[in-house]
Amino acid sequence: MAKQEFKHLFSPIKLGAVTLPNRIVMTGAHHRLSGEKLVRYFAARAKGGAGMIMSSPHPPQAMKEEMIPSLKQITDAVHQYPTKIFAQLFHNGARAWGRGTGGGAPFAASPIKIAQTFKTRGQNVPREMDKDDIKRTVSTYGSAALVMKKAGFDGLEIMAAWGTLQSEFLSGVLNVRTDEYGGSLENRTRFLLECIAAIRENVGPDFPLGVRFNGDELVGRVWWTDKRGNTLDDAKDIARIIESTGKVNYLFPCADAFGAGHIPPMNFPLGAFAYLAAGVKEAVELPVLAVGRINDPVLAESILENNQADLIGMPRALICDPEMPNKAQQGRLEEIRRCIGCNEGCVGPNFMAQPIACTLNYETGREDMGPIKAAENKKTVMVIGGGAAGIETARVAALRGHDVNLYEKGNVLAMELDIAAKAPGREDFTEAKRYLTNQIKLLNINVHLGVTVTPEMVKELKPDAVVVATGGIPFIPEIPGADSAKVVETRQVLLEEEDIGQNVLVVDYQNHTYALDVAGFLLDRGRKIELITEAAYSGSEADIFTTQMAYFSTLSRGLIITPLTGVKEIKGTSVIVYNILTNQERQIDGIDTIVVCTDEKPNDALYRSLKGQVKELYLVGQALSPRRLLDSIADAYVTAAKL
Ligand SMILES: Cc1cc2nc3c(=O)[nH]c(=O)nc-3n(C[C@H](O)[C@H](O)[C@H](O)COP(=O)(O)O)c2cc1C
Ligand code: SF4
Repeated sequence: MAKQEFKHLFSPIKLGAVTLPNRIVMTGAHHRLSGEKLVRYFAARAKGGAGMIMSSPHPPQAMKEEMIPSLKQITDAVHQYPTKIFAQLFHNGARAWGRGTGGGAPFAASPIKIAQTFKTRGQNVPREMDKDDIKRTVSTYGSAALVMKKAGFDGLEIMAAWGTLQSEFLSGVLNVRTDEYGGSLENRTRFLLECIAAIRENVGPDFPLGVRFNGDELVGRVWWTDKRGNTLDDAKDIARIIESTGKVNYLFPCADAFGAGHIPPMNFPLGAFAYLAAGVKEAVELPVLAVGRINDPVLAESILENNQADLIGMPRALICDPEMPNKAQQGRLEEIRRCIGCNEGCVGPNFMAQPIACTLNYETGREDMGPIKAAENKKTVMVIGGGAAGIETARVAALRGHDVNLYEKGNVLAMELDIAAKAPGREDFTEAKRYLTNQIKLLNINVHLGVTVTPEMVKELKPDAVVVATGGIPFIPEIPGADSAKVVETRQVLLEEEDIGQNVLVVDYQNHTYALDVAGFLLDRGRKIELITEAAYSGSEADIFTTQMAYFSTLSRGLIITPLTGVKEIKGTSVIVYNILTNQERQIDGIDTIVVCTDEKPNDALYRSLKGQVKELYLVGQALSPRRLLDSIADAYVTAAKL
């Protein structure tokens, strides 16, 4: 295939006095890293060829002169490369958490609480800002801008999207003020324009400044469905007002104020929100940045080519593969590790105040540990099990120079990813498989399919090291009366191995979104379903965006979800369920099939029989303990790194 040119993606663009070397932007992505870890994290993305990195979030009220030396370490590290680094001024407004910051109530345009549907950390009703608060806050934007300029940042962005302070003023839902800062769009943009003016005054006319705002609040559709929020048409008007100041260099419309859209999970289509950039672009002359599941340079190029945007935000694409821009430019497209939108490593930990990571890239957030090192002693390594953990072990071991043989008893590699990808909205697990299996090819790793490894075989082959990655075994927990009914597990449903009746009870023992995904699979096939979970809510183990979209897609098709509920007994087509707190029972009649969703049991029999027989023996992935894909990849990487 001819090498793709990426004429648009790798063309420079001027923002104010600064020229970005290309159109690839790592838009704001809260990382919870600091010190050397953070410096290396950003430097890796600059080395990988990103055109611009947005450092965020920087609360304007917290940015002080004494922070300049540590900020400068970041900007200096990025400036070893042609990449530019901007800083995002991000004021949480009502989203701030008084208790988390040592007390005090958050303030906002109006005293309206932004409750989160899932994993709430206790949002407060904010205090309505008075004129003094507004004046003081405007001046912090100005002073913070100067601090960031002195720290070596190449430009700035005002975060006026999601439910942050600026967006609370812009919103027709969150701003119910009756003074000159509320009401008409002209009034609602006043606070933003005052902040823009304060920044301009302090940084001068040429210092690049962008505004990120909601291209659509999605209120009225996937959020607060009884209200009307800002739509794309309102966003166009906001864009025109901002442009008319002549003080801003680019516009960045994104989706959703408070709900699921802003970090779109796997069940959003790729490039889902490029239409917002395209819409705003019709209204203004300024460069416009598009974002949202643009995980691939080919897609990015087509958005530019179709004139839908001038800049392409690809934060998770770069979290997952910092070398993506270089690989694209060098025509190594197949080698790109594309973000699958799982939100498991990047978004999930963020909400638990954990540092950024990536399901598919163990090195993300750990750039300070350095690249994979060549092994001091070359070994023969036998990896048993061709799932994600086995493949990742083989990949890293091969990169370290070991002689690797990968054994899989089935006829395909990474079958578990194929199965996961059968659920609606989870199709991108196939991309994880594509990346991993392509690595096996690129590294010329010997793969033995259809081979069940026995202890005798291992004895005969005498490898220096054995890594057992034999995965998990699906199982159905013991439920009294289960033999009187049709009870199946989720894998059997997705593989369509069993006939599933019309009325289905899904029992969720796992509480990630797998049970919801399987329910979605059956809803697609016209089944009537109730899902019960002993947890406060199904999906409680997943990030809020994935959970929210799984709920949106299943509830809107009639799924009934009953929390805090377990199964007591099955009596033919009747199931006795009970509330796990009160023990109150309920009988559900007319159930044709019960689908049980559990974590698997570790398949560690081979490991146990090899224990003491092999010098170097390791157990990784689901065979060690049934967890998520992220954990399998992490086990594998760490194990292979010490072989
Ligand atoms: C872990 C994480 C944290 C984020 N934090 C911010 C932030 O601080 N500021 C911001 O403007 N956007 C933030 N975002 C949103 C991204 O800029 C972007 O809009 C979103 O990830 C969708 O783009 P993508 O699909 O290319 O990842 C964050 C995204 C992630 C994954
Ligand atoms: S953890 Fe998942 S969503 Fe986040 S960057 Fe990695 S692949 Fe993408």
